[in-house]
Amino acid sequence: MESFDLTILGAGAAGLFCAGSALAQGRRVLVLDHAAKPAEKIRISGGGRCNFTNMATAPDRFLSGNPRFAASALARYKPGEFVRLVDAAGIAWHEKTQGQLFCDGKATQVTDMLLRRMTGAELRLETQITGLTRDTDGFRLETGTGVIKTRRVVVATGGKSIPKIGATGLAYDIARQFGLRLVETRPALVPLTFAEQDLALCRPLSGVAVEARISHGGGTFRDALLFTHRGLSGPAILQISSYWRPGERLSIDLCPAQDVAEALKAARQVNGRQQVATALASMLPERLAQAIAAEAGLAQARLADQNNARLAAVGNRVNRWQVTPVGTEGYRTAEVTLGGVDTRDLDAKTMEARGVPGLHFIGECVDVTGWLGGYNFQWAWASADAAGRA
Ligand code: FDA
Repeated sequence: MESFDLTILGAGAAGLFCAGSALAQGRRVLVLDHAAKPAEKIRISGGGRCNFTNMATAPDRFLSGNPRFAASALARYKPGEFVRLVDAAGIAWHEKTQGQLFCDGKATQVTDMLLRRMTGAELRLETQITGLTRDTDGFRLETGTGVIKTRRVVVATGGKSIPKIGATGLAYDIARQFGLRLVETRPALVPLTFAEQDLALCRPLSGVAVEARISHGGGTFRDALLFTHRGLSGPAILQISSYWRPGERLSIDLCPAQDVAEALKAARQVNGRQQVATALASMLPERLAQAIAAEAGLAQARLADQNNARLAAVGNRVNRWQVTPVGTEGYRTAEVTLGGVDTRDLDAKTMEARGVPGLHFIGECVDVTGWLGGYNFQWAWASADAAGRA
């Protein structure tokens, strides 16, 4: 029977990084994945340019049943350390907004770097994992190509998002099998979908983007919002989707830079002949301005003919748009999975399961979910390094 010091399940961001960190400790390491290629999510991340970290990484940028859990690993492996690896590999990068670092070129450069970093470890793709049991001195792992004996196992098979490229719930099944608790999972960083009556506004505006401010469930984000034919998307919506639960109403400010009612009153003073829609278009994209004016029955109406209450209603509609999404686009398009292996059952320094020596969980399968903007990869690197060094 083959034997290894460490077997890592999942050759994604966390699994590949963990292999490199464990090799530095002189271990014999095997990485298994059922997919034909490693790290498919890195390939499609950041619009193909991989937003590989965020310089503003801090524990408060993560959602978790225990918001302090991630602090230890994040403090011991910081974004600057990953940037040093990227620089040493000669990968050109740039900072977008808010500390988000992206490759100038293809995201696959990051995968290539991770594969080079784990030279000496064995990578086996297209390998099914069919069973994992405790054995004397470690674990017995059953795979589609035979049985492996391994002293330690790191589970890095990610969450449920994007099943089309290989996501499964294996990590949760293993956690359950070994008696670990799970925090309920749900899709996050995902577009929101609307009922037919709300789509009457969104559908014709599909493709229109506007800067919006949304506060909900403890999260506040000011970023781009995009109307789609199914509802709303864009960074502001993806961010708030992690805080939103089905049935909850959102209040969206479609013009955070201005008090629209006051601006309309001021415009009426200066030029009463101006149409409401035209005045709105100085604050909003034209198609959105027209749609809101039409919805209020003011498609051709002039400012001078509107009393304060009417302008206040229009302003309210823009600055406090109340909408109740019916759902999300689900795991099919969600960037991440909220919830997962309960952090109460993991050691924050080593990611090892309490009560199951030698079994570790890292990356997205753990109940630690970052905001949009490179935080999820930083968690993958940091949790992987913590386990790899252990
Ligand atoms: P990951 O999903 O990367 O890897 C899991 C691996 O396990 C996969 O290779 C899979 O094939 C394998 N596996 C699963 N089930 C298995 C089974 N049963 N048997 C064997 N192998 C199995 N984050 C960020 O910080 N910046 C960004 O730019 C983006 N962009 C982005 C875009 C899109 C479209 C998505 C879907 C996601 C992002 N993310 C992101 C999120 C980021 O991709 C994610 O958080 C990390 O990839 C998680 O790393 P893991 O290694 O934990 O899982």
